[in-house]
Amino acid sequence: MSASFLIFGLLLTTCSIAFASDPSPLQDFCVADPKSQVLVNGLVCKDPKLVQADDFLFRGLHLMGNTSNNVGSNVTQVTVAQVPGLNTLGISMARIDFAPMGINPPHTHPRATEILTVIEGRILVGFVTSNPENRLITKVLQKGDVFVFPEGLIHFQKNIGHGYAVAIAGLSSHNPGVITIANAVFGSNPDIAGDILAKAFQVDVKVFDKIQSKF
Ligand SMILES: *[C@@H]1O[C@H](CO)[C@@H](O)[C@H](O)[C@H]1NC(C)=O
Ligand SMILES: *[C@@H]1O[C@H](CO)[C@@H](O)[C@H](O)[C@H]1NC(C)=O
Repeated sequence: MSASFLIFGLLLTTCSIAFASDPSPLQDFCVADPKSQVLVNGLVCKDPKLVQADDFLFRGLHLMGNTSNNVGSNVTQVTVAQVPGLNTLGISMARIDFAPMGINPPHTHPRATEILTVIEGRILVGFVTSNPENRLITKVLQKGDVFVFPEGLIHFQKNIGHGYAVAIAGLSSHNPGVITIANAVFGSNPDIAGDILAKAFQVDVKVFDKIQSKF
């Protein structure tokens, strides 16, 4: 291997580290200005002189989300959308409530690694590695256990205890994003053509008309 190739490789590694998550802030803070008409990669900063303590505040994470829905879970997000002071800081959090047997369905955060701890209950968690292995990695978590979902990988959680369960998650982006697999594949707007899904999933096209009607 030539020296220049080595240096190129080194540069590439350095760059991918620098761009793997939210960019590092170049000032104390950059509180998001929701009124700005300027579009940048993220949100523009509000005048620092106008920044208030409330820009860094969220209240109510002690409150349970309503889990009376089809999946039996509820995610209360605390991202830049709720706390403008998180802008550019590369971090956010969430509270996840689970009804008995409730699931947080398979989903991925395109911009964040997630670290989750169980506050109450027993939760089965899992994630799937990328192609070609698609290895499923699962664990049963008890209260106090901490588990990591690597950035971008499809993951899920299920309450396998008898009562309600609660987890708190930290995420390595102020705007982690969520792609819920079933919603994206079967509930896109407009629909992905049934013949495409039928071939991708290797089943009859009629199966998809039925699934798509539910999303
Ligand atoms: C989650 O809970 C909140 C607060 O109870 C509720 O307003 C919201 O509709 C719930 N979301 C879902 C998807 O059930
Ligand atoms: C929870 O959501 C369900 C379905 O939307 C609703 O009927 C119920 O009143 C809500 N419960 C609370 C405590 O808000």
